[in-house]
Amino acid sequence: MAKQEDVFKKVISHAKEYGFIFSSSEIYDGLSAVYDYGQNGTELKNNIKKYWWMSMVQLHRNIVGIDASILMHPTTWEASGHVKAFSDPLIDNKDSKKRFRADVLIEEYCARLEEKAQKEIGKAKKRLGKAFDKKRFETTHPKVLEYRGKQQSILSRMAQSLEKENLEDIKKLIEELGIADPDTGSKNWTEVRQFNLMFGTKLGASTENATEIYLRPETAQGIFVNFPNVQKTSRQRLPFGIAQIGKAFRNEIVARQFIFRMREFEQMEMQFFVPPGTELMFYEEWKEKRMKWHLALGLGKENYKFHDHEKLAHYANAATDIEFRFPFGFKELEGIHSRTDFDLSAHEKFSGKKLQYFDPERNENYVPYVVETSIGLDRMFLALFSHCLKEETLEDQSVRTVLSLPPALAPFKAAILPLVKKDGLPEYAEGIVNELKYDFPMYYEEKDAIGKRYRRQDAIGTPLCITVDHNSLKDHTVTLRDRDTMKQERVKTENLRKIIDEKVNFRTLLSKIE
Ligand code: GAP
Repeated sequence: MAKQEDVFKKVISHAKEYGFIFSSSEIYDGLSAVYDYGQNGTELKNNIKKYWWMSMVQLHRNIVGIDASILMHPTTWEASGHVKAFSDPLIDNKDSKKRFRADVLIEEYCARLEEKAQKEIGKAKKRLGKAFDKKRFETTHPKVLEYRGKQQSILSRMAQSLEKENLEDIKKLIEELGIADPDTGSKNWTEVRQFNLMFGTKLGASTENATEIYLRPETAQGIFVNFPNVQKTSRQRLPFGIAQIGKAFRNEIVARQFIFRMREFEQMEMQFFVPPGTELMFYEEWKEKRMKWHLALGLGKENYKFHDHEKLAHYANAATDIEFRFPFGFKELEGIHSRTDFDLSAHEKFSGKKLQYFDPERNENYVPYVVETSIGLDRMFLALFSHCLKEETLEDQSVRTVLSLPPALAPFKAAILPLVKKDGLPEYAEGIVNELKYDFPMYYEEKDAIGKRYRRQDAIGTPLCITVDHNSLKDHTVTLRDRDTMKQERVKTENLRKIIDEKVNFRTLLSKIE
């Protein structure tokens, strides 16, 4: 089995074993691509939300936050284009009866071509050592050129066919490339069909009068339709942003990779409304700001990259993804899009209401342009969780599992552990918890040997452990153990609040992004 798969399996089993993520309705064998967050997962998720919200709303005077409803008037989705175009091209394998996204099958074929190109590059690098000139090699080596050229022509043919809704050609392409069902090897394919990803439901009690509505597939439209309300009541002037965190629903066909692609998930989106003509400047600004937000977490610069879209959606004039190195490779974590005035103009047209802004400097009314930043909360959770989960071999050759989360995001900030369950130590330890619980989420545990308790805290990412022993009662000091270094020091009980705060506060994290 590939090593990557092993790592990913560990991530999934650790998430379950330590109360971070469970399959939804697991006692009924779960629901595909739907997950529940457990006691520790919920805390971590809330802390990610807090980090995002504070960075957007608290640190920007010109960004306000809202909480729009999941259910919206059905015309919303006609205006946004989701009814007509929010679909994936589907293909079924007649033998295995499995369903695939036709575009993903083709993209995976191209990824294999890229792997071959990378292999050639790797071989040459090894052979030539320091004399290796990567750029020159990539632009001259016949095999690399062949693999890359083939990829390009396949992807551009696919893009053109999808744009023209020529699904017959997509099937032809799959056949010409000899793409088989990855699990069974069968090439017995059905036609390609479009499949809308929105979940429909009904509003109203009686069957005859019920209205067909949708669960929102993105949170953004709740922001667009509220633009005039928020602009007027907040008295904001352009440029200004509206931020929102909330659930979105997509009936994903290929729902794999744990919480990477879910049917019910959460988005953290911010639409930044700007005067026409300034959008590309703000787009660049938001690219930089969002990357800084990620880098402040300390997961390593080498684990992020921008992937600029060459082929743009009809409403965008620039778009990029921030990709993260997940256990299964670099994949989209966040999207940053310059969406022009497409959404607001479409809602103007469909609602018949003006969604304009009077610009006192330009002395004119116009529909603002929008730069959007959109990150999946669950994907961010997976990025953090999978990167921070480590197995370390210690000096005595034992292995410890540690979740080295950024301290501000850890579910618990400190664990209070009385060394023994007697002699007044639990009472003293509880006194500390009662003192500190107003400031920090604290964990209290008195069962098992202290070493075992440390390991349990390492596994859920608690940055500090505080051990109360017999000396604590005499001199009011405790042992403080650091999760990452495992170093222990003796500190005064009265200094604990200050010490913990310095380690876990959001101030330190947020000041890195300013
Ligand atoms: N409003 C723009 C928008 O929704 P998107 O690229 O479709 O753009 C934005 O989604 C982000 O939402 C993605 O970068 C990803 O992090 C997250 N996301 C999208 N679909 C998802 C899914 N099925 N499961 C989990 N996260 C998802």
